[in-house]
Amino acid sequence: MDYENIRLEFEGALALLIVDRPQALNALNRQTLNEMMQALRAVAENPQLRGLIVTGSGEKAFVAGADISEMAQFSPQQAGEFSGLGQHVLRQLESLSIPTLAAVNGYALGGGCELALACDLIYASEQAKFGLPEVGLGVIPGFGGTQRLARIVGPLRAKELIFSGEPIDAPKAKEIGLALEVLPPDKLLPHCRSVAARIASKGPLAIAQAKRVIQEGADRDLRAGIELERHAFSTLFGSEDQSEGMQAFRSKRAPNFRGS
Ligand code: CAA
Repeated sequence: MDYENIRLEFEGALALLIVDRPQALNALNRQTLNEMMQALRAVAENPQLRGLIVTGSGEKAFVAGADISEMAQFSPQQAGEFSGLGQHVLRQLESLSIPTLAAVNGYALGGGCELALACDLIYASEQAKFGLPEVGLGVIPGFGGTQRLARIVGPLRAKELIFSGEPIDAPKAKEIGLALEVLPPDKLLPHCRSVAARIASKGPLAIAQAKRVIQEGADRDLRAGIELERHAFSTLFGSEDQSEGMQAFRSKRAPNFRGS
C-alpha cells in the first residue's frame, strides 16, 4: 500500500507509524486519517507484531492538530463526520492488542495531543509541547480529547488545559501524568524502541489481556473490573505461554513465548 501522508515501517516485530506532512506540521486532514485507518488495519492483521510506535516526521511537530484549513469551511454535518472519522481511527489505535507508544517529538496540539492520548504509553522529547488549543478556534477537541484527557490526568487538570487552550512543555506534561519520561530529542526513539523491546520479551497474550482488562475496567465499576481480571487470569492458564513462562522460571532459564 502506498501512502502519501504517513509512513508505515517495520523493524522486526516493531511497527512505526510516522505522520509525514511536515509542510503542515503533520496536521491530520481526512486523507491522512484514512491512510492511518488502512495502516492500523494492516498492523492489527499482522500476528508477528509485538509493538507500535507512533511519531511525527521532521524536527518540529508530532502532530499540530486536525487540519484547520480543511475544517474552516465545514458545515455542522461535515464536522460531525470528520470528528467521527478521527474518533474511529483513534479507537482503532487504542483497540490494538499490542502495546502502542507515542514518541512525541514536537508539537502535540489538538488532534495531535488526542492521538498521543489514544496510545498506551507516552514519551516526550525535551522539545515537545502538549495542548488542546481548540477553544481559541471557537470549537472543542473532537477526537476524544475531552474524554481521554480527563481520564488520564483527571477532570481538574483536563478542564484547565482545555479551557485555557495554553500549551504546556514536556516537564509539565510529565508532572501532570501526560508523559512518562522526557528525553533529549535524539534519545526519544531509541528509548521507545528499548521499552517496546522489553515488553516484546514478555508473554504477548498476557500483555494483550492486561491491556484489555485495564482499558475495559476503566469504564466499569470496581466489582465488574476485578471480575474481568479474574476471567482473563483464568483464561491465560489455558495458554502455552503460561506453561512456558512458569516452566522457564522453575528451570532458571529465559522463557520463549510464542503468543499461543
Ligand atoms: N492545520 C493546518 N495547518 C497547520 C496546522 C493545523 N493544525 N498547524 C500548522 N499548520 C501549518 C501552518 O498553517 C503553516 O503552513 P504555511 O507555511 O502554509 O502557512 C505550517 O503548518 C507551519 O506552521 P507555522 O508557520 O504556524 O509554524 P510556527 O512555528 O509559527 O507555529 C504552531 C507552530 C504553534 C504549532 C502553529 O502552527 C499552530 O498554532 N498551529 C495550530 C495548532 C492548533 O490550533 N491545533 C488544533 C487544531 S483543531 C483540532 O485539532 C480539532 C480536533 O480536536 C479534532
